[in-house]
Amino acid sequence: MTTATDVTVPLLDLKAQYATIREEIEPVVQEVLESQMFIGGPKVAALESRSAEYLRMPHAVGCSNGSDAIILALDALGIGAGDEVIVPTFTFFSTAGSVSRVGATPIFVDIDPASYQMDPNAVAATLQSRPKGAVKAIIPVHLFGQACDLDAIMEIARAHDLRVIEDAAQAIGTEDVHGRRVGSVGDIGTYSFFPSKNLGGFGDGGLCATTDGGLAERMLRYRNHGMKPKYFHHDVGLNSRLDALQAAVLLVKIEHLDAWSAARQANARYYDEAFAAAGATTSAESLDEGGLPLRTPQPAPAGARHIYNQYVIRVPASHRDHLRQALKDAAIGSEIYYPKCLHQQDCYSELGYEAGAFPHAERAAGEVIAIPIYPELSEMQKAHVVETVLASVRQSR
Ligand SMILES: Cc1ncc(COP(=O)(O)O)c(C=O)c1O
Repeated sequence: MTTATDVTVPLLDLKAQYATIREEIEPVVQEVLESQMFIGGPKVAALESRSAEYLRMPHAVGCSNGSDAIILALDALGIGAGDEVIVPTFTFFSTAGSVSRVGATPIFVDIDPASYQMDPNAVAATLQSRPKGAVKAIIPVHLFGQACDLDAIMEIARAHDLRVIEDAAQAIGTEDVHGRRVGSVGDIGTYSFFPSKNLGGFGDGGLCATTDGGLAERMLRYRNHGMKPKYFHHDVGLNSRLDALQAAVLLVKIEHLDAWSAARQANARYYDEAFAAAGATTSAESLDEGGLPLRTPQPAPAGARHIYNQYVIRVPASHRDHLRQALKDAAIGSEIYYPKCLHQQDCYSELGYEAGAFPHAERAAGEVIAIPIYPELSEMQKAHVVETVLASVRQSR
């Protein structure tokens, strides 16, 4: 009999996923090996067309990774040196790093403390403080697999004539309150196929998608040295192509994506209910209210679809290291997304942001911790996670 002490729960178990699709993957990988066609080709074209259909947009352009996808989108929109781009300070580094790589300047904004998403009010206020015409674009990030408030962001963008790149690296298949697939509302959506993403390859990969044929044409060119036709260069682009092995693997995996997202949602519901029964809440004030000092993620609002790329809980900053250790001792994986806001990173010190500039994001960075949510979790594994988290959090009172 397996007992709780035998149960291990990695943060993500890609071997468990591979075991369920091995028989589908091996022949397509073999097919690519036999073809000896590794860059571009029919597999990449098929993945682009299947992804476009899945994302409900006419055009999808594969590339090397989700960071390059943002660079290609910025290039296609003509954003570069001297331009400013508004990004949340609480996200993975690429959102801002890609802005810097094209020579533009990231302008950071705070998050909504309840949803962790970019706060549209902060975007509006920041625009007032910038020189007229300096800001050219906004990059909302659909963080953790949850949609941003796209209505509010698009309204601001229209009012100020700004371009919008949706960073959907963590949110392939996420839908907003109107049921729109994220990435399809702004000018360009960008995606990552990094192995730990809900749709992950066997290495790096990325994608840009758009409803605008002209932008798609530009991104196609930019991903291949700005070249068209062969050896004729309109622009200085990147070498950022998707390889055929990744496309072959992703073509198999994309057919499982909705089932995997549904399993993640079911796991999230399990955690939500178990933690709520013990006194946790989703309120942004929950850690200050004197009840159980544990906050669970905001569920998706009516009509929206959360794909739970991460399941992020929150405990008082003074307790987070204890919780991490308790999880480690119980053989449970966890991760901090993200321990340091981007405005506080060394590489952005010259931008002059001070500690306390973005209080909601800074507080989140001290309190968040992601626990395992992957589709293949067993009932016993989930129960083990819940018991371990609750035992640790109760000790902190
Ligand atoms: C929000 C966000 N943006 C961009 C990226 C970059 O994707 P990649 O690692 O494929 O370059 C990531 C990847 O972690 C991400 O989480």
